[in-house]
Amino acid sequence: VVLVVDFGAQYAQLIARRVREARVYSEIVPSTMPVAEMLAKNPRAIILSGGPSSVYAEGAPSIDRALFEAGVPVFGMCYGFQLMATTLGGTVDDNGAREYGRTPLTVSKTGSTLFEGTPAEQPVWMSHGDACSAAPEGFTVTASTDVVPVAAFENDEKKLYGVQYHPEVMHSTHGQQVLEHFLYRGAGIEPTWTTTNVVEEQIALIREQVGDKRAICGLSGGVDSAVAAALVQKAIGSQLTCVYVDHGLMRKGETEQVEKDFVAATGAKLKVVDAEKRFLDALAGVSDPEQKRKIIGREFIRVFEQAQLEILQEDGPEVAFLVQGTLYPDVVESGGGTGTANIKSHHNVGGLPDDIEFQLVEPLRQLFKDEVRMVGQELGLPEEIVQRQPFPGPGLGIRIVGEVTKERLDLLREADAIAREELTAAGLDRDIWQCPVVLLADVRSVGVQGDGRTYGHPIVLRPVSSEDAMTADWSRLPYETLAKISTRITNEVAEVNRVVLDVTSKPPGTIEWE
Ligand code: XMP
Repeated sequence: VVLVVDFGAQYAQLIARRVREARVYSEIVPSTMPVAEMLAKNPRAIILSGGPSSVYAEGAPSIDRALFEAGVPVFGMCYGFQLMATTLGGTVDDNGAREYGRTPLTVSKTGSTLFEGTPAEQPVWMSHGDACSAAPEGFTVTASTDVVPVAAFENDEKKLYGVQYHPEVMHSTHGQQVLEHFLYRGAGIEPTWTTTNVVEEQIALIREQVGDKRAICGLSGGVDSAVAAALVQKAIGSQLTCVYVDHGLMRKGETEQVEKDFVAATGAKLKVVDAEKRFLDALAGVSDPEQKRKIIGREFIRVFEQAQLEILQEDGPEVAFLVQGTLYPDVVESGGGTGTANIKSHHNVGGLPDDIEFQLVEPLRQLFKDEVRMVGQELGLPEEIVQRQPFPGPGLGIRIVGEVTKERLDLLREADAIAREELTAAGLDRDIWQCPVVLLADVRSVGVQGDGRTYGHPIVLRPVSSEDAMTADWSRLPYETLAKISTRITNEVAEVNRVVLDVTSKPPGTIEWE
């Protein structure tokens, strides 16, 4: 394992991903972890991430010198670089040499381990106030910029390396190469980590964990739960039952896709619960978005628990495990940690016996989203599932502004299917993050169709681009595609006489309308 020591501000996750892209397994650890504990993990190399602090600021995170003396190769980036410099006796000061953004870097030494084979001048991404003016003893300065004399250094004998910039961001055009040089040449690691290994390793672990007991898994139709279920299915076969709650708020063909494609690809035992009526009854007369969300969440849990109860009552070994599609970013964000959590299911709501506790099986908890997609591919899941764009749990229920009724859902399903079809036909699926299609059910406007007046509803297209859904921009879709979608929706969907485009970023708008 390669440890990425996290000094804050999201850099560590990106570095960990880049290491894995170099086919080396990596894990993130907090900078507060004692060095002895880090070394106890037997890391093949350690990377110190960037961070928001100045090394001289009060309370700034530091690192025990022992880390550099353990014989483990270390690569410091940005804050990690400055920390390495100051800890080992170099000089970092606030000399006003600020650099932010794209900066030309001059490689000053040939034969450098990190820069071998990269251009003498290369753009790098900088973000720092303080700067290193003298490298520690025993280090060779390998690169500089116009304002920073020491922008990179290395001590090949001790296997210690550092760069002032952020090699992990794509604007540092040779960053990945430099990182790989550290891993392969500096630390002597072989690039052997692949999703095939992950699948094999996880299958063995799941078999060991579950033994001859049974497990259940809630399928939402999304990528994560589908891949988690497929992996567990491969490990324990018929000991797994998947539960899919059809709340009637799914898009056209979605339930059928789960029923058909997922089962065909995995052979999993699937229990589909048709709960449309239950959800629509519960939603009747409700227009308030928060109230809708609460009702949908509550009903979902009730239906899922009912299904659990039924499975518990079927003959067979104990049902002791609940499979969840937790991803690595979720794990890191909730403070890291290992070991399996025990959760108590909501027995007070669904009427499960008090003493039922599920142990969690979380086979994706080491993986990033793109890696989950690769595992899904490896397991033979169809593209439609593996490359799915995000879709909210409450489904179309929060894409109808106004009361949710069966008629309105059917109408929105048609419009949404047309939009999706045309976006796919135009080859735009990978360019957009997702494209909610929203029905303004409480709004009517006048139109003319044939020779007659219409008084119908608008449909809103909300195509967005995003990296993590926290922020988003509206996608500049080609006019021809928008025209096609508009023409088809107004022609083919009764009651809709207008199609409008949402050109709001997030913030201030959210991606969904409710
Ligand atoms: P917003 O609307 O908050 O959406 O900008 C951000 C992302 O989250 C999705 N979303 C949800 N996903 N349950 C989910 O599983 C929900 O209740 C939910 N609400 C929003 C949304 O589609 C977007 O990708």
